Amino acid sequence: MRAEFIQWGPTMAATAPSASPQPADGEQAISALQAARVRTTALVAQLSDEQLQSVHSPIMSPLVWDLAHIAAYEDLWLAHRHGGLELLRGDLADAYDAFETPRSVRGEIELLGPSEARGYMDAVRARTECVLNDRGVGDGFVCEMVVRHELQHSETMRQTLAIAGLLPDGEPPLAAMGGADGWLRIPAGAFAMGARAEGFAYDNERPRHEAWTDAFQIARRPASNAAWMRFVEQGGYERREWWSEQGWAWKARGERGQHTGIAGADPHAPVCHVSWFEADAYARANAARLPTEAEWEKAATLGTGDGAAAWRLLEVGRVWEWTQSSFGGYPGFVAHPYREYSEVFFGERYRVLRGGSWATDARVATPTFRNWDLPERRQIFAGVRLARDLR
Ligand code: AVJ
Ligand code: FE
Repeated sequence: MRAEFIQWGPTMAATAPSASPQPADGEQAISALQAARVRTTALVAQLSDEQLQSVHSPIMSPLVWDLAHIAAYEDLWLAHRHGGLELLRGDLADAYDAFETPRSVRGEIELLGPSEARGYMDAVRARTECVLNDRGVGDGFVCEMVVRHELQHSETMRQTLAIAGLLPDGEPPLAAMGGADGWLRIPAGAFAMGARAEGFAYDNERPRHEAWTDAFQIARRPASNAAWMRFVEQGGYERREWWSEQGWAWKARGERGQHTGIAGADPHAPVCHVSWFEADAYARANAARLPTEAEWEKAATLGTGDGAAAWRLLEVGRVWEWTQSSFGGYPGFVAHPYREYSEVFFGERYRVLRGGSWATDARVATPTFRNWDLPERRQIFAGVRLARDLR
């Protein structure tokens, strides 16, 4: 396969989106919050109370926890911190704080029931709308953070629904990929990594800084289900030489084969629900490796600085893409507005994913957005894109 050489240039800039949006006034904030709520409400509309309250997986919350947590977060950041109001339900603050009450115990504590949780969401929303009408949005940051928080939880809830076999009809919408197989060649050089100073971005995307990559090639498309099944048939899960030590140990602890959905899925659709350990082994089996975060972002922002064209060229956005990199702060990182959004996850344990999945709202999935998870996890809608050194 001949690799194609991509040149930087201003030619693709015309289609690039401007700085990441954040609401400019109360009205815009309210309509963005309402749009997020429509998505959340639709997602749970068909579920029974039992389905909302069950623990479908030990690594996921009962769905009813996500609902009340969305409300608690909005009340904390918009009504209380931004608006200066007392918390509506201070008594619930700990139960719905992600750190006070980790996922593993959310099935055991007393939670609001489904109709109480819905009532709590509505009551919080009524007061945040008043605050936004009265006070406006300030610099808009916290409003955007709350909007994206709810949108991110609608993806988390879809992960839970996928495990429970309860995704709505038509989901996951993972059809065959278009385009062609093959590689893009990216020349060595520096580029501006991370989010610009203007507009909304999470703390971990800043500051923008110069990053260097050697020349590399990156696959035009994420790996397909068919390619994954070839890996399986070649002994992918038995060949020690393809696995890292940690990955081999993870496999020995129980999850021996590929995710059950892969064999029956559309062979030309991107593979989904692979762990970092599996992605890493798959890469070695293909004489390749996972891209670093810097490589990924450089490829995804080719020519545009914000990804509008390269995004389509690379077919980003169907499945999250594991990178080699562990999650850390960029040089000069400052936690904002709270350490528990990202800083407490920095270190060797978590691996970074880039791009976005079919379940990620476009408002969240930007070329500088950094997602992270543990290397053994495969509830996330994650696949793999290969990279290779270029010599
Ligand atoms: C960015 C998806 C890893 O789910 O833990 C939700 C997003 N932060 N509530 C997560 C988040 C607070 C976060 N991820
Ligand atoms: Fe949250």
